[in-house]
Amino acid sequence: MTRPKKLFIKTYGCQMNVYDSERMAEAMGGQGYVETDTPDDADMILLNTCHIREKAAEKVYSELGRYRGLKEDRPDLKIGVAGCVAQAEGQEIMRRQPLVDLVVGPQSYHRLPDLLARTGNGARALDTDFPEEDKFEALKGRGKAKRGPTAFLTVQEGCDKFCAFCVVPYTRGAEVSRPAARVLDEARDLVERGVREITLLGQNVNAYHGHDKGLAGLIRELARVDGLERIRFTTSHPNDMDDELIAAHGDCDKLMPYLHLPVQAGSDRILKRMNRHHTAESYLRVIERLRDARPDLHLSGDFIVGFPEETEEDFRDTMALVEEVKYGSAFSFKYSERPGTPAAERAQVSEADKDDRLQRLQALLGRQQRELQDAMVGREVGVLFEKVGRHPGQMVGKSDYLHAVHVDGYGLAPGDLRRVRITSSGPNSLRGTLV
Ligand code: SAH
Ligand code: SF4
Ligand code: F3S
Repeated sequence: MTRPKKLFIKTYGCQMNVYDSERMAEAMGGQGYVETDTPDDADMILLNTCHIREKAAEKVYSELGRYRGLKEDRPDLKIGVAGCVAQAEGQEIMRRQPLVDLVVGPQSYHRLPDLLARTGNGARALDTDFPEEDKFEALKGRGKAKRGPTAFLTVQEGCDKFCAFCVVPYTRGAEVSRPAARVLDEARDLVERGVREITLLGQNVNAYHGHDKGLAGLIRELARVDGLERIRFTTSHPNDMDDELIAAHGDCDKLMPYLHLPVQAGSDRILKRMNRHHTAESYLRVIERLRDARPDLHLSGDFIVGFPEETEEDFRDTMALVEEVKYGSAFSFKYSERPGTPAAERAQVSEADKDDRLQRLQALLGRQQRELQDAMVGREVGVLFEKVGRHPGQMVGKSDYLHAVHVDGYGLAPGDLRRVRITSSGPNSLRGTLV
């Protein structure tokens, strides 16, 4: 028998890349590849990349540089670049990095085995098409191996919103939804393999239209799948938060009370320049309606500071919005110029102002996060256990609100969902006892 070949995948960027990496590993499994967790003994290295900010894109080139020695020792080693940098800069990667054998974009990775077959003896392959055929149809059926209690499931891809700062509409293409029946098949498969919680993914997941009742319709059907205990979805756009989805937060028990709803900024002038098509006020109204439906909802958001032309006054509007919402967690970034996007052409904010604003915003968001986490003490909450903790008998899981929770629980196993009373709150996690 021949030795199985080894595939090392390194994943950058968002959860969708994590999902895509799983699917690429499965596609390569059909070619006799098994995954390894180090590049050192790999027959093939695949970088699944992110183009969202300048730093993310630069990482790819420095990582590739590190593989030069490996490739000199083992000329048969194949090196591939996938994901959003591949899509945006495929030609440039080929030109700058002769050691790269293949480049494949996020919409054409079902062709990975064919592309690989075309490489060798100096031949290289590049595919950054947005093909007519659907990659998920080409990759029907997933592995059958047991897996952990949580999984991502991509239901929607691409974006038609064109925020003035963002590369996603260019790297992921137009919005496409997978048919609900396919999603349900995949969810049932995952549950059979041990999954208890599914996070539905999309660049604009609440614009999902693969079900005649939209994302809410899909969630209600998923909620009927036996053995699936928890449903989440990310990332949502405030303008696609329809009545149905808001209602689902109120009456669908399996839908978790946690919502990532990026707003980016709190100044209407900047929101307009960002091409967001919503105001601070309309965002706050959506949140009010969500909280009417589900009073204990925890919100999370994304923020950009130092967007072109942002003044101190604009920034204070962002701080005021954050004060009003009170986020359970959040991600905040300094604006990063992305080639080809409209905002890159505009008057830029100084690096010093960006640093200052990021620091102030993160201090506020950090305080809010801690306050909401501390407020869990004394409360009872659902926890889905994922793995054994560092101390004997300890298990770690995630609360309904996505807090990490440590519990002393001999006899508990990954995949168990239990009620837990929270007893204390530490810097990054909660502690509790089984009810
Ligand atoms: N599809 C998701 C994720 C987009 S990228 C969504 O629409 O929310 C994730 C976050 O990165 C964005 O919400 C935004 O806050 C940030 N981001 C995107 N482009 C950026 C840029 N050019 N500079 C800094 N942050 C950016
Ligand atoms: Fe990017 Fe805006 Fe689309 Fe989100 S909605 S992916 S931030 S263009
Ligand atoms: Fe990055 Fe592409 Fe995701 S740019 S954030 S990997 S969609």
